[in-house]
Amino acid sequence: MSKNDKQDKANQAPPITQMKTPKVDEKRFVLTDKVSGNEYELDLLNGTVGPSALDFRNFYSQSKMFVYDPGFTSTASCSSEITFIDGDNGVLLHRGYSIEDLAMHGDYIETCYLLLYGELPSERAKQQFAYEIGHHTMLHDQLMTFFQGFLRGAHPMAIMVGVVGALSAFYHDTTDINDPQQCMAAAHRLIAKMPTIGAYAYKYSLGQQFMFPQNNLSYAENLLYMMFAIPAEDYVPSPVMAKAMDRILILHADHEQNASTSTVRLAGSSGANPFACIAAGIASLWGPAHGGANEAVLQMLEEIGDVSRIPEFIERARDKDDPFRLMGFGHRVYKNYDPRARVLRESCHEVLEELGIQDDPLLDIALELERIAMEDEYFISKKLYPNVDFYSGIILKAMGFPTNMFTVLFAIGRTVGWVAHWKEMILEPTKKIGRPRQIYVGHEPREFQLMNARDQSDQSETKKTDWKWFWS
Ligand code: ACO
Repeated sequence: MSKNDKQDKANQAPPITQMKTPKVDEKRFVLTDKVSGNEYELDLLNGTVGPSALDFRNFYSQSKMFVYDPGFTSTASCSSEITFIDGDNGVLLHRGYSIEDLAMHGDYIETCYLLLYGELPSERAKQQFAYEIGHHTMLHDQLMTFFQGFLRGAHPMAIMVGVVGALSAFYHDTTDINDPQQCMAAAHRLIAKMPTIGAYAYKYSLGQQFMFPQNNLSYAENLLYMMFAIPAEDYVPSPVMAKAMDRILILHADHEQNASTSTVRLAGSSGANPFACIAAGIASLWGPAHGGANEAVLQMLEEIGDVSRIPEFIERARDKDDPFRLMGFGHRVYKNYDPRARVLRESCHEVLEELGIQDDPLLDIALELERIAMEDEYFISKKLYPNVDFYSGIILKAMGFPTNMFTVLFAIGRTVGWVAHWKEMILEPTKKIGRPRQIYVGHEPREFQLMNARDQSDQSETKKTDWKWFWS
């Protein structure tokens, strides 16, 4: 196939199929207000597998009451065909395929295709897709100058938020969300350019030259190349490292309606362009309760410092009055072992063996912490298992990535998931702008006070410091 033929083929979007909708069950639910005697009938909606959901969409208009669920612990914010999680049984499926199968037998590029287009690609479709992604990896020359505007010591996630947001200013030809071709091109550009932006953020922090992407390399190899190669020497990515990197990318590719994906959907629901939406997702991922946990795991292991101090930290994690949490443990959805952690645990041992790392003190602490926590009554009773971030942090450190790059690598892997959800959301015929409601607990209406009538004491000043840390 000639280069032009390949390009023409690659530019053809796989057909867009109408999204499936949940089935309305024959059973109906009636909520009874026992004081007024009013009754509200609710539909029960069924997905393919997993819990059903009560349809509250018309509840407010009938009852003038909201549904209160901060943190969305019981709320389905959308229906989706992309990913299924059964947290109680530790199951994660992408488009019906288990994460274990994808990680063991697939690769990242076909996982991207699967998430975006719904099916595993044929050999030919895979080649075309890889070609398309490979030919969008470079950055606009002027975009490269953006990096110079950051301090060398800037956190790379701060650079990611800024530069990815700026993509919309450079690739304006793919920001019309009503044009499917533009949407697809934007999706491909995002998947293709994230490794380049991440690698350049790293290179910039080192004061090293940016390494141009190499289209003859696989996605994972190219990422390693741009991160670790230098112009003065040849660099051939090690197959073991490339395999581990590819697996880490697969394991982070999507995780249904987590905080960052929900952020992308919410931002996108206003009609914002895809680059802006993904920048919002990156910002959300950065927090230590989400993608920032892999970095926090390493910081915690360093803080623990020695195996002998683990009991002290376990004690702190159990103490209700101490805001400390064991980073890399627990998950909102998994109340059983995180299946991604299981796969990564194996890879972790493989990589360390291949790299000849047997006596890393941080690794010793990590493995002992894992052992003790999994036997501890507090962790057992609260179903707090090591999550994917616990092992990814250890592997990435062994591979030579600095700690502050861990969340960037998570963001690179997750971009396809964000983009797939964004695409699904904008194609949804009944989409609405995301607009949660609230229970207002502030002041009742009151009269404006002129300055000379206001409280002038120091007491009014203390209110400014009345902030509590998130975890406390
Ligand atoms: N260490 C100690 N105690 C914990 C931990 C932990 N890591 N995680 C939860 N708990 C305790 C809480 O104190 C709480 O106890 P309580 O019932 O006595 O009040 C109970 O377990 C439930 O915790 P919640 O915060 O209500 O659980 P939630 O589902 O909201 O939080 C979260 C999940 C944010 C992941 C939490 O487990 C946590 O902070 N873990 C550490 C950070 C982390 O590893 N994040 C990565 C998540 S995975 C990912 O994003 C890829």
